[in-house]
Amino acid sequence: MTKKILVTGGAGYIGSHTCIALHEAGYEVVVYDNLSNSSREAINRVFSIIGQPISFIEGDIRDAETLRQVFAAHAFFGVIHFAGLKAVGESVAKPLLYYNNNVSGSITLLEVMAEYDVKNLVFSSSATVYGDPETLPIDETSPRSCTNPYGQSKLTVEHILEDLAVSDASWNLIPLRYFNPVGAHPSGQIGEDPNDIPNNLMPYISQVAVGKLEKLSIFGNDYPTVDGTGVRDFIHVTDLAQGHVAALNYLQQHASSKNGSDTTGSVGFLPINLGTGKGTSVLDLVAAFTKVSKQPIPYQFAARRAGDIASCYASADKAKELLGWEAKLSITEMCQDTWRWQSQNPNGYDSH
Ligand code: NAD
Ligand code: UFG
Repeated sequence: MTKKILVTGGAGYIGSHTCIALHEAGYEVVVYDNLSNSSREAINRVFSIIGQPISFIEGDIRDAETLRQVFAAHAFFGVIHFAGLKAVGESVAKPLLYYNNNVSGSITLLEVMAEYDVKNLVFSSSATVYGDPETLPIDETSPRSCTNPYGQSKLTVEHILEDLAVSDASWNLIPLRYFNPVGAHPSGQIGEDPNDIPNNLMPYISQVAVGKLEKLSIFGNDYPTVDGTGVRDFIHVTDLAQGHVAALNYLQQHASSKNGSDTTGSVGFLPINLGTGKGTSVLDLVAAFTKVSKQPIPYQFAARRAGDIASCYASADKAKELLGWEAKLSITEMCQDTWRWQSQNPNGYDSH
């Protein structure tokens, strides 16, 4: 039996890549997205890559009535919940928007899931829930703390999921804590398309390389790291997408559900890191991108960015042990695929 999956936020950067991986793995996908940070063009390109349309519903996760209609119309095995706002700086300026969208929206989604007895969930969490880590690599038992409303919204949803699992053993809830997703689909047709000036390093570098931005500012060269710049665990978005397929496969094997599990059992609350386990410095990423793109990437050192930490990289052992998943793609491949997407679509989805 083909398992149907509701993908909230499926038109976005990580969601669109995951829709392709789900389709390739034999899942049937229904995308639910309000297009607040994405475009229909991304969905059209997903159709073009997989060679057939997938179901798309324009809707908001805070709109219980529309969600009910979707759950009434489809027998879902589970939900992958990407929908959320993700800009740290904006969350500081607009905390109510972030708590409303990310926390209230998740509660509404969970309530409707409960009504329809769909209790398998994969949730987009983030390494941001670890705050400034005491030890590296970061494993899933590391203490959690957040310093901005975006991170707090992710941590709050994690707490809600934990409480839900305690209250009712029929919930199967996997928050995936992503490290730093970068890269694009190897076709160059879909990728990250930030609004305005990018906040994150990889899209900033690629927009400098393509000539849209003049110069990269490197925030801090006095961190206690290999070269003084920040160190992060960059993970290719297609590896990340495969991590979601692996999580769903795990739910199929270990969770009970009326819509097509293989066994009866309970997963409860099971947080899992998705990272490579390797740290790369800002300067190393700039060098790798320069080599791949053969473009100059001018940069200057600037003051540290408020809230940034020196180093962050995952222990990826739990994902390997439980899900049989590990990241395969290298920093060079992350840069190659980002560059293909950026150079073929210098203005993102607006290019066409
Ligand atoms: P994205 O903005 O590209 O995708 C999110 C999608 O959710 C967008 O298509 C947006 O239109 C949709 N959306 C937002 N609010 C919605 C709502 N109320 N109802 C319906 N749809 C809504 O972001 P992304 O990079 O693909 O991230 C996906 C998820 O992963 C987010 O929850 C994000 O917080 C989380 N995450 C991202 C990163 C990262 O660096 N990209 C890191 C860790 C966690
Ligand atoms: N950086 C620069 N210049 C820039 C942008 C970033 O030097 O223009 C540096 C940062 O100071 C940091 C590194 O590049 O040292 C990575 O910064 P990003 O903004 O790309 O990523 P972060 O690690 O700060 O945060 C990202 C997401 C968060 C998520 C976190 C952990 O933006 O939402 O990864 O998953 F929570």
